[in-house]
Amino acid sequence: MVDSENFAIADLFSLAGKTALVTGGSSGIGLNLAKGLLINGVRVVIASRKQEKCDEALQELAPLGEVSAFAADVTKPEDRAALLEFCGAKLGSLSILINNAGSNWAAQLQDYPDEGFDKVVSTNLNAVFSLTRDAIPLLELAATEEDPARIINIGSMDGLQVPIVQRVPTFAYSASKAALHHLTRTLAVDLGPKHITVNAVAPGFFASRMTDFVFDKYLSDIEDECPLHRIGRPEELVGIVTYLASRAGSYTNGTVIPVDGGTSVSKGKRDWME
Ligand SMILES: NC(=O)c1ccc[n+]([C@@H]2O[C@H](COP(=O)([O-])OP(=O)(O)OC[C@H]3O[C@@H](n4cnc5c(N)ncnc54)[C@H](OP(=O)(O)O)[C@@H]3O)[C@@H](O)[C@H]2O)c1
Repeated sequence: MVDSENFAIADLFSLAGKTALVTGGSSGIGLNLAKGLLINGVRVVIASRKQEKCDEALQELAPLGEVSAFAADVTKPEDRAALLEFCGAKLGSLSILINNAGSNWAAQLQDYPDEGFDKVVSTNLNAVFSLTRDAIPLLELAATEEDPARIINIGSMDGLQVPIVQRVPTFAYSASKAALHHLTRTLAVDLGPKHITVNAVAPGFFASRMTDFVFDKYLSDIEDECPLHRIGRPEELVGIVTYLASRAGSYTNGTVIPVDGGTSVSKGKRDWME
């Protein structure tokens, strides 16, 4: 291929003809990622627990491309098995697995229940490990040395630094996301030889059901903490995922990429800059 074709954005960042599973694809960040993939020619399966939410999302997504939805709780082994069977039947193979489903629990330390801690860690960490392990055969069917299959884990800037804005601690959430970032690195080393890359994206604040309540109370604090003084826009996550899933990102492996406007490297508002 001559440089002019090799370096042209339309080809370098192309996702055409790929297949993807987006967990938690029925709302928020996952729904936007599913839209971005569909608009760019990827055949997509979304999954989340509630059938009703899957159906609603499907209505929104169907005009954009070839998409199906499957109601599954990723923390349940039988649901994961049924989901992967569905993906096999619908897509044949998986070029992209986006582990996006996540949950949170906020409480003061003395009131923080074991059930809350277990729920968050089992969704944000354990289920990602188990689903990824069991998805390997489908990913291998799409993986080549030239064009590896891609696993993209949605971590969080809260896994890079101790969150400060919410006022109420989220012990399990930050611990689960930090562990997910490191799981990403260990899986990348293990799966690289199979031509499967594994990377994580660590978002800052983006509008979703998870953040509605936080924005109602603390939006101006969130903006103050961010050097760009705003929350993220959906296309800023679609962009990084497109990079990671395309030829442009095929040699990027084992990374955790913050997409947070610089919040995780800032220590907050600098009064002297006003
Ligand atoms: N929004 C942000 O500012 C932000 C920042 C950093 C990281 N993140 C991460 O981004 C990801 C998406 O979060 P979001 O903000 O878009 O929140 P959201 O709107 O609440 O979306 C969460 C999605 O996950 C699904 N889900 C939850 N538990 C599940 C389970 N056990 N099995 C299958 N699906 C499940 C939900 O659908 P059901 O209820 O139908 O299951 C929903 O589709 C999460 O991993 C979150 O930690 C978000």
